[in-house]
Amino acid sequence: MIVGVIGSGSIGPDLAYGFVSAIAKDGGKVYLHDIRQEALDAGLARIRGYVFKALSRGKLSEKAAKAVEKALVPTLRAEDLAECEYVLEAATEDLPIKRRILANVERIVRPDCLIGFATSGIPRAEIARDAVHPERCFVNHPFYPAWRSPPVEVVGSEDAALTARMVATLERLGKVPIITADVECFAADDIFCNYVSEAARIVQEGVATAAQVDAIVHDAIAGGGPLNVMDLTRGNLLTKHCQELMRDAKTGSAWFEPPSILAEVGNGLWHNPKARGDGRYTPELAQLVLDRILAVLFARTLFVADNNICAPADLDWLSRMSLGFRAGLLSLAEEYGAARVQELILNFAAKYPGFPVPPSAAAGTLPSFKKHVLVERDGELAVVRVFRPEVKNALNRATLLELDQTMIELEADTSVKGVVLSSFGGSLAGADIGELAALPDPEACEAICNFGHGIFQRIEAMTKPVVAAVDGPVLGGGAELSMACHGRIVGPALTLGQPEVNLGIIPGYGGTQRLPRLVGLERANELLRTARTLGAAEAVSSGWASAPVAEDVVAAAKALIGEHLAGRVTLAPVNPAPMDVPAQLPAVSLGHRSLAIDAILRDVMLRGLALPLAEGLKVEAQGFGRCKRTVDLDIGMKNFTQNGPRVPAAFLHE
Ligand SMILES: NC(=O)c1ccc[n+]([C@@H]2O[C@H](COP(=O)([O-])OP(=O)(O)OC[C@H]3O[C@@H](n4cnc5c(N)ncnc54)[C@H](O)[C@@H]3O)[C@@H](O)[C@H]2O)c1
Repeated sequence: MIVGVIGSGSIGPDLAYGFVSAIAKDGGKVYLHDIRQEALDAGLARIRGYVFKALSRGKLSEKAAKAVEKALVPTLRAEDLAECEYVLEAATEDLPIKRRILANVERIVRPDCLIGFATSGIPRAEIARDAVHPERCFVNHPFYPAWRSPPVEVVGSEDAALTARMVATLERLGKVPIITADVECFAADDIFCNYVSEAARIVQEGVATAAQVDAIVHDAIAGGGPLNVMDLTRGNLLTKHCQELMRDAKTGSAWFEPPSILAEVGNGLWHNPKARGDGRYTPELAQLVLDRILAVLFARTLFVADNNICAPADLDWLSRMSLGFRAGLLSLAEEYGAARVQELILNFAAKYPGFPVPPSAAAGTLPSFKKHVLVERDGELAVVRVFRPEVKNALNRATLLELDQTMIELEADTSVKGVVLSSFGGSLAGADIGELAALPDPEACEAICNFGHGIFQRIEAMTKPVVAAVDGPVLGGGAELSMACHGRIVGPALTLGQPEVNLGIIPGYGGTQRLPRLVGLERANELLRTARTLGAAEAVSSGWASAPVAEDVVAAAKALIGEHLAGRVTLAPVNPAPMDVPAQLPAVSLGHRSLAIDAILRDVMLRGLALPLAEGLKVEAQGFGRCKRTVDLDIGMKNFTQNGPRVPAAFLHE
């Protein structure tokens, strides 16, 4: 892929570094274009600094660092962008400049080149007003630090296919696109800029100092404090600009007027880095500040939700990821309760004329939505996606509960004839290790397995075909969820495995019982006991996958369900009948793995597989509970959480 970034100011170089990190290994190239040599030099120096840091921390190999340097091309010549298939304009936040750049880019690039605007708040319709091909122009609003912050707000165009290509392109560049409406400041900057402006007003009025505001807000909801974030991003003037956009919008009012202190601080700092102010505060001051800040945060969040500027699940995720709060803002609102949220907003509105009260706040309601599971319909089919991209869609308890509820609803919905079960990007990275590590005793361990078994058995028992569509890492609980489906489609990036024994546990969501029934006892014996991973080709040849490897796993899963509904193939759960089990399992080379855990695993396989599946699952749950009695479970879990998956645990075999 060949990509161009226009503008080498605060954010352009970060965007270019993020993109080049995603595509350099596959031979991609990123142009970084500016009209000023000193801007290019400064941008390049910053990128070299990132590469150096990543190298010295061991996060980047010498080879990868060289590939990054080679693939990044700084240029003063806009004509160099001619070969790009995507150009992101991240130049000065000024409408006439953006329009001029767009006119020039359209003249230079190929007809099929996608064009993004990194604008913080100017609607797409405004920037693309005079475009020759507005249908290939999109808002692509990134977040600080743009080289590693996943979300990008996307305002789509009237062309659904081009919008889908825009979304896919950003995903390929390592981003998580979030669709928003084409309104001033979209979703996140409406909330963020109003939040920062309220903090600035509090300081301007002398109610609290910048240090106190930041301490109070960070202690309550995290996020680093609004004015600290301004110092990091030098964003005062951009915030002022966004406030003016919102003030002058159809939904605007005088309340959005930016406080004058934003311009006064300007490109300067709220905090003196050499002599930080005293952030201590009294409970009374905290309440005063928080009531104002939370009223603004919740009211603007509900405004975005009420006006369908962004889907609630996306909004919740976006506000957590882009603003760094300890939870998404809709989740935080739930935590405070609809009545308290309403009280905060109405009290604030009574004091500050022109402050818009969103309808849901007036009614005292909050949107109800699933946080981690998204469902889309395609005719008779439903596509269910686990959406926790920041943890490769790991299946924590809350996600499993939402998945269960979703499947129950789809089973009851007579208009649905089949279900594709997938995730953002296709990965399903297993259970939530933090949750497993926190289980207090063997009974709790057994109970969590039975909880998972219940959900997976309901999926297995669905009367409609359910096909898992997976790509990328599909490990532990993610692989087990896929095996509870009636068919599996895998993509080329698949890394499939049951790595539990590396952590001092055994699979507990059905892996010990369903994997042998799918791929045969001999192969499963090796895979389960050694934690070896398989790629896509072996997943197909071993019978784990139901069809050849597919580039587009969701499309292939839909097609497979279509074949089943037409009676040309049969999709079914794994055969639940008892298996023929030998007296002993063939020996495998365990390497460093725990002999104590291996003994439990062998016992669970030999006894469980000789029983019908439902009974075998109970044996597995008990076995998982027994792991908790070993010393090796603690060693494996601690090693994983402290050192990550690559460092072998020093098991004691007891
Ligand atoms: N800074 C952030 O944290 C942030 C976050 C999200 C979005 N954005 C958006 O990204 C865009 C850039 O923001 P910034 O903060 O990096 O701005 P900036 O003012 O720091 O940098 C803008 C750069 O654009 C260059 N430029 C101006 N005209 C140009 C032209 N015709 N061709 C090529 N380059 C040109 C300038 O020389 C300058 O280097 C803005 O639209 C802004 O709203 C910024």
